[in-house]
Amino acid sequence: MNLTLSQYLHQHTNDPSLKELLQQLCHTCTMIAHAVSKGALSGVLGSTTHENVQGEVQKKLDVISNQMLLEGLEWTGTLSGMASEEMDEIYPISSSYQKGPYLLLFDPLDGSSNIDVNVSIGTIFSILKAPHHADHQAITEKDFLQKGREQIAAGYVIYGPQTMLVMTLGKGVVGFTLDRDTATWYLTVPEFKIPSTTKEFAINMSNMRHWEPNMRAYIEDCLAGETGPLKKNYNMRWIAAMVTDVHRILNRGGVFAYPWDAREPGKAGKLRLMYEANPMSFLVEQAGGKSITGKENILDIEPEKIHQRVPVILGSAQEVDCIQEYLNR
Ligand code: F6P
Ligand code: MN
Repeated sequence: MNLTLSQYLHQHTNDPSLKELLQQLCHTCTMIAHAVSKGALSGVLGSTTHENVQGEVQKKLDVISNQMLLEGLEWTGTLSGMASEEMDEIYPISSSYQKGPYLLLFDPLDGSSNIDVNVSIGTIFSILKAPHHADHQAITEKDFLQKGREQIAAGYVIYGPQTMLVMTLGKGVVGFTLDRDTATWYLTVPEFKIPSTTKEFAINMSNMRHWEPNMRAYIEDCLAGETGPLKKNYNMRWIAAMVTDVHRILNRGGVFAYPWDAREPGKAGKLRLMYEANPMSFLVEQAGGKSITGKENILDIEPEKIHQRVPVILGSAQEVDCIQEYLNR
């Protein structure tokens, strides 16, 4: 019989707070999965009239999932604070609850444009140590601004044909499938390993004219196929939910890129470092892949802001190296 999540955590961490945090986080995600699956039956589809700090109109399910995560975790005594794509400011744990040794960052529902069209979406999470927990100091945004390498755990829950949890505690990447009848997570993938080579890329091609010339050159050479400089016939996928594209890459390899583009030259990229790029890069590296901005390794970026954006190129190691070579030209 497959291990349950509780059994797995019992075997792989000695830290009761981390165990409790991950259990409650995943439990909350089973409730998000339920809300997502109800769709139009419970009136949760569609948009709100509110824009988040990113200037994106929030979907009703973005707001609902954000609230479920706050309420599902603030009482656990495992956290000093939370931060989310859907909140302008950090969320310190209120004085009515006990504070704990960790910080949690999340994108409550990644790939929001997929919600209303019934395509896979997910919750992304990143867990950091709360630096001043022992001194009882008030939590500040600065406490969250730690490099991706400092992550204690990270992962995502994907709401697709199956609901799966994919996570790393820094020793490889494992996958659990939710048995919806019993609300139990079972270990179904004991180890994800990303093949180092690939013939598949994921990028929003409609932005091609806005990319840097070297990025354009790489994709043009992919399109040139076997007789072109890369000597391979490439396939393309783009799901427009990072969770789902990364899930495919963890399973069968590939590269995913959301590079800098000239539409908003002041913005470093589209994806957010702290709760999208960092947790995904941790997973990808732990599964043997690579994740870069084109200038540096994502996990080595010294963060400046909680909602900071970065260009992201990740996936099969040799293909990421190949893109880096193009960008260095
Ligand atoms: O969270 C941002 C996001 O939805 C990612 O999940 C996804 O990869 C990307 O944006 C899709 O962007 P676009 O709609 O520009 O293709
Ligand atoms: Mn997202």
